[in-house]
Amino acid sequence: MDWNFEEALNHYRNQGAPGDQTAVVQFLKEVQAQKGSIPKWMLTRAAESWGCKESLFLAYIRRLPSLRLEDSHTLELCGSVNCGRRDDLADFARALCKQKGIEFRLVPCMRQCGKGPNLRFDGRLHTGVTRQMLEELLNQ
Ligand code: FES
Repeated sequence: MDWNFEEALNHYRNQGAPGDQTAVVQFLKEVQAQKGSIPKWMLTRAAESWGCKESLFLAYIRRLPSLRLEDSHTLELCGSVNCGRRDDLADFARALCKQKGIEFRLVPCMRQCGKGPNLRFDGRLHTGVTRQMLEELLNQ
């Protein structure tokens, strides 16, 4: 029998989702097992169906490294003095990533200190980063 997303939604609602953590995590694992990763539209649909916020699912996905959003982006910000610690850039980047469902990591020095603040977005290095540049980058 083919897997049916709507049936899965109903099944895990009957298991206590979205209030029950275990049911939510099992739901996310099942979606990933069926699809290879978790499509964003399925989170939107689940939030709509269960009457909760999509950010609930994103929080679980961030906490459990085995879960992966489909086409998810990763932002790695150098957390050293010349970069992420300058102008509270790390706090700003973290909040922006959270809002957009982008994985955020604070990483050690990228050895480009003279060009900081530095970050990698999906592996590509960006130097001399400002808050405005960050907003533009994450809005693409
Ligand atoms: S301090 Fe950021 S690259 Fe070295």
